[in-house]
Amino acid sequence: MKLYLGRFIAWLVLALTLGWLTSLFAGTLIALCVSLAILAIPLAMAYHYLQMLQEFPFLDKGKSLPKSLGAWGDAFAKIERIVKESRAQILTLESRHNRFIQGFQASPNGVVMLDDALHIEWCNSSAESFFGINFHKDSQQNISFLVRNPDFVNYLSMRRFEHPIIIQRMGFANELTIAVQVFAFGDNQLLLLAQDVTDLQKTEAMRRDFVANVSHEIRTPLTVLIGFLETMQSIELSAEQRNRYLALMMTQSSRMKSLVEDLLTLANLEVNAAFAPRQEFDLVAEMAGLKIDAEALSAGRHRLVFEMLTDAALYGDRRELHSAFSNLISNAIRYTPEGGKITVSWGLSPSRHGVFSVTDTGPGIDAVHLPRLTERFYRVDGSRSRDTGGTGLGLAIVKHIATRHNAQLLITSTLGKGSTFKIRFAPERLLERATSSPSP
Ligand SMILES: Nc1ncnc2c1ncn2[C@@H]1O[C@H](COP(=O)(O)OP(=O)(O)OP(=O)(O)O)[C@@H](O)[C@H]1O
Ligand SMILES: [Mg+2]
Repeated sequence: MKLYLGRFIAWLVLALTLGWLTSLFAGTLIALCVSLAILAIPLAMAYHYLQMLQEFPFLDKGKSLPKSLGAWGDAFAKIERIVKESRAQILTLESRHNRFIQGFQASPNGVVMLDDALHIEWCNSSAESFFGINFHKDSQQNISFLVRNPDFVNYLSMRRFEHPIIIQRMGFANELTIAVQVFAFGDNQLLLLAQDVTDLQKTEAMRRDFVANVSHEIRTPLTVLIGFLETMQSIELSAEQRNRYLALMMTQSSRMKSLVEDLLTLANLEVNAAFAPRQEFDLVAEMAGLKIDAEALSAGRHRLVFEMLTDAALYGDRRELHSAFSNLISNAIRYTPEGGKITVSWGLSPSRHGVFSVTDTGPGIDAVHLPRLTERFYRVDGSRSRDTGGTGLGLAIVKHIATRHNAQLLITSTLGKGSTFKIRFAPERLLERATSSPSP
């Protein structure tokens, strides 16, 4: 302050001195004008610098204040230092804020920040897809007006946020189940977190179905067995009756045994998710064995055709491959009525995939069932399949075996005409001989 006063006094002294010197040669009026003109210089400078300050873009990065002399120079330097510090602080805050936003955006969980009146203040892209909202369009809108799911609206209006809720039919195609919970934070703000639990719910439902199915499948033959045992205990039976009952009991026991065996096979296949070992599997010998088994099972009721369209061998687990092939053949025989034709073939596709195919002229399967056919315990006609001794696990096992052998199970069927089940092996699973050529 003292410095600025000194400078002002210096300008005053200069103005008075030059005014006095001028009065020695010219009139008093001219001397007064000279003094005033000199005093106007610092005022003009001050006005000029103030204007510069006013027009200076303080937040424009890379720009610095113009250089100036004297007291203004000092003031400019101070202002410039403050501006630079503020710019650095803003940059740090900006990058911290961006990191937070990027973190929230990277989260697979939905995050929505709401004010006390449930207006959307911010949300990430996962929340946008879960709730079908658009932040740029819907910002500051009340979320319960946008997401019309009654459970969700009810949860928000009740304000009982201690527990999460599970909401179904969310997402753009109503295909998601999400868990939602709201937490209070800051100054009357709400943080809404949403997690996609669709797969979890499906697994849980599958587990429940599985337990229910296994219990049901085992209870039925057990009830029959107990019934026979009670009858045998309470009634005196003739030798013929006893033998008939024992034969029926044997059928039910075998049914339970095959169910337990199939379950164990499935469990082993599921635990062992890795690709199957690469043992050489001779399809010529296998087809001969399959034909003998098929003829025994069909007992002359069907026309059976076995075709070896290639001599290419397979790499895989012999036991598993045999189980998959005989499963498909036994289905064809069991579900095709007497007089039908069953064609089993091993060939190469034009893309040199190995194709094991079983075609029958049986009842065929309605297209609605095809996607579910490989689910455990899924039967098209439960009673018919059960009558033929089916547990509904066969195709689930075949699918698992195919997956372990880099292969796909392909099913085509026409109701009333018949079905074709193919296992299509990737070329790397094949051992082609010089004579192997694609099937026609
Ligand atoms: N060739 C076929 N023709 C018509 N329907 C079939 C054929 N193969 C399978 N299906 C239908 O698909 C269902 C599922 O077959 P899958 O082999 O998984 O079970 P299953 O034959 O009932 O019992 P399992 O094979 O465990 O003894 C069967 O119940 C049957 O309804
Ligand atoms: Mg079967």
